[in-house]
Amino acid sequence: MIAASTAENLDRAAELLRAGELVAFPTETVYGLGANAWNASAVRKIFAAKGRPPTNPLIVHVASRDQLQLAMAPPDERLSRRLDQLAACWPGPLTVVVPRHARVPDEVTAGLPTVGVRVPDHPVALELLRRCDFPVAAPSANPSNYVSPTRAEHVDAELGERVALILDGGACRAGVESTIVTLVEEEPRVLRVGALPVETLAERLDCSVETLLRSGPEARRAAVAESPESPESQLSPGRLPEHYAPRTPLRFADELDAEGQWYAEWTARRENASPPRIGWIAFRTVTSVPSQVAQLVTLSERGDLEEVARGLFAALRQLDQTGLDLIVVERCDETGWGRAIMDRLRRARRAS
Ligand code: TXA
Ligand code: MG
Repeated sequence: MIAASTAENLDRAAELLRAGELVAFPTETVYGLGANAWNASAVRKIFAAKGRPPTNPLIVHVASRDQLQLAMAPPDERLSRRLDQLAACWPGPLTVVVPRHARVPDEVTAGLPTVGVRVPDHPVALELLRRCDFPVAAPSANPSNYVSPTRAEHVDAELGERVALILDGGACRAGVESTIVTLVEEEPRVLRVGALPVETLAERLDCSVETLLRSGPEARRAAVAESPESPESQLSPGRLPEHYAPRTPLRFADELDAEGQWYAEWTARRENASPPRIGWIAFRTVTSVPSQVAQLVTLSERGDLEEVARGLFAALRQLDQTGLDLIVVERCDETGWGRAIMDRLRRARRAS
């Protein structure tokens, strides 16, 4: 059930969480599917509701920077320094992977010695967390491998039956998930590009973008695929199966070979030769699209990638629900917001 984020409903949501129920709530990135992080059986409900493999750890959400310590082991000097450097990032779309506090159940961390924690930057999330005397474990509130939800209605459509309450906070501001950085290695390293641009993170941590992205997401995925037992997969288990994918096949616009050939191949593969219906996602105003395009979604008139990120998942969902044969999407430069956009699209591309 979707509920307005009134003080009364926030009280109720906190009460439900305390009692071991699931509550979906908005964050600045995407909607989260929350459970009391101290309650292992409540946390197991998250995995059941999402159909998520138990090997994929959850992010723990707390109300303030000081509360990060609820979930983490007492930091050594190096880690304290790193956390100080990152202080200004919270509340915000940054998750840090740090050694876990003994109190965090194995269910949350998938048995890892580390835990991912963050302080979300959304008034409803913060109001909720302040009402809880426990941290809230929450993955994105979508069925495992489907596109993350950026509106309460998205959560309701797929998980409505499985959550006690969905707090409505309107559309999420960032629209892609938080950036994840691990602080348990000699140097910090990004495990997932996201809504905090890596350039900003590099500045705060006083290191280079290259350092942060060393054996970046692509290289790591390849390594994991090659050898599921490799140290890489131990480090970030569950990263591989996350596709963020619509059910409709997705291709990049530059894969469509200008005019013609793709279209010929496509129709040749189809039993009935009716023309494919295409949904096109543009990052800026376009003046012409191929004639097979049945639906055009323009995410930003001027190609502003922050705006593109905000609307991307909702556009994928919308086009996925209209019985199209193919979703075609543009590419963008992989800097700033463009990194997270291309990362999510490549996953969607691969899975379709
Ligand atoms: O923006 C976000 O981060 C959203 C909102 C709800 O906070 N949450 C989110 O959660 O995207 P989820 O579960 O969809 O993605 C969390 C990712 C997973 O890929 C998981 O493998 C990784 O974080 N992760 C969590 N704990 C980890 C740990 N201890 N070590 C390495 N990776 C971890
Ligand atoms: Mg997710």
